[in-house]
Amino acid sequence: MNWWHDGVLYQIYPRSFADASGDGVGDLAGIAEHLDYIASLGVSGIWLSPIYRSPMADFGYDIADYREIDPLFGDMAAFDHLLEETHSRGLKLVMDFVPNHTSDEHEWFKESRSSRDNPKRDWYIWRDPGPDGEAPNNWPAAFGTKSAWTLDESTGQYYLHLFLPEQPDLNWQNPDVRAAMHDVMRFWFEKGVDGFRIDVIHMLFKNPTFEDNPPGNLLAHVPQSEELHEIVRGLRAVADEYEDRMLVGETFVWDIADIAKFYGNDGDELHLAFNFPMAIAGYNATYMSKVVDKTLDALPFGARPCWVLSNHDLPRHGARYGADAIPGAALLLLGLPGTPFIYAGEEIGMTGMIPPPERQVDPGGRDAARTPFQWSPDPNAGFCPPTVEPWLPIAEGYETVNAEVEDTDPGSVLNLYRRAIAFRNGSDALLSGDFEELRVEDRLWVFKRTGNEGSVIAAVNLSGERVEVALEVTGDRAGRIVVCTSGGREGEVIGEHLELAGFEAAWVAVN
Ligand code: GLC
Repeated sequence: MNWWHDGVLYQIYPRSFADASGDGVGDLAGIAEHLDYIASLGVSGIWLSPIYRSPMADFGYDIADYREIDPLFGDMAAFDHLLEETHSRGLKLVMDFVPNHTSDEHEWFKESRSSRDNPKRDWYIWRDPGPDGEAPNNWPAAFGTKSAWTLDESTGQYYLHLFLPEQPDLNWQNPDVRAAMHDVMRFWFEKGVDGFRIDVIHMLFKNPTFEDNPPGNLLAHVPQSEELHEIVRGLRAVADEYEDRMLVGETFVWDIADIAKFYGNDGDELHLAFNFPMAIAGYNATYMSKVVDKTLDALPFGARPCWVLSNHDLPRHGARYGADAIPGAALLLLGLPGTPFIYAGEEIGMTGMIPPPERQVDPGGRDAARTPFQWSPDPNAGFCPPTVEPWLPIAEGYETVNAEVEDTDPGSVLNLYRRAIAFRNGSDALLSGDFEELRVEDRLWVFKRTGNEGSVIAAVNLSGERVEVALEVTGDRAGRIVVCTSGGREGEVIGEHLELAGFEAAWVAVN
């Protein structure tokens, strides 16, 4: 089993996972303390959102030093310990690589902004003001509709930032920037890190004409062009200097053909590219299955799709789909052809919570996705000591939705994830079998995965109504439920029909 191709990967947002130091913010020691829990899920590796030194304007996606750990999370010794402990459990560790921008407190930017003729001036993207002193063009920054340009008073030019003003964009057209960033990757690869999730990789190349975006097209300034893919090939070449490393891209583009391009023409770009059309399709099998079909058609031969329903930027799918849908969505996600990423907390059925206005902290309005992990029914959900205030409030309902209570409950979401991942890890049909749709309606999805050793049918009821599904697996070919959202049904033999209660889902093995 190849760890990134066949395994399930687990995303950790370190601020929100586990606070060992007792300051209300999660840290590396907290992650290390919970590695046995992570291993118990059956996942093959973890991806850590950024832990580098940062002023935290974007909670770590604004990096002031790519080679240092932020003191909030620990220090390099804590990182080395975590890496070693992760590897000793047979798990891989993937870091976040944020190449599009640094913090405005990064030394490179401080130099760049110091004067127009500083050697690092061209490491960032500087432009003269328009005739009336206005921004050079209409390019938008994320998190609201504001301009992507901020005037630097002392040198009289604007710098580009596709996110916050505290996140100036690096100039990837400058070969020295490429070389410096490649060296950052090597620094972590030398330490033994197994791969990178690459932040907003689709934004690394900017429209060289710097002309205004046409009305209605908010992404025209970041063309999905050959020049972009040349940059991606450069990143891959660095990863290929080492053995068995993996690059997964945050390819936040809507056109599936554009996602497909990130795999390269010759397997020479990303190993995996997140499929966001799936993440935001809503809990509707008609939409979801269209995304899967288009993706399987578009991807180059041998390329591995990569599915995700939740991450630190999106409201949790349990909140978007409704809590009733959580167990079925697990069997849907883990049954698809491709590599699934799960976002810490989804395996216990966390839905997150929008904090009350006075506790909201994210400039991008994404706090609901980041409420602390719910470890136990204790005060602060066991995330941090009861005496400190966690950086975001604990979501309501943690007294029942938490890892400790669910651990010993065979009917819990947690144990469903464990059974499903364990079965998947040993199922040739689910890991590499063909994909065939048997029935697709908005609220019902039945698909079949067929490998060398038989098939597994995934039947997911996306509605609250009971349904009957014709399976036509009679006689010696009778099917057997191997994993089900109602654990008590596992082992049940299925003939021509499978009945599913509201929101129930099952994997049925057929020989
Ligand atoms: C990505 C990250 C997000 C961050 C942004 C800027 O979308 O996932 O959290 O704010 O990039 O780095």
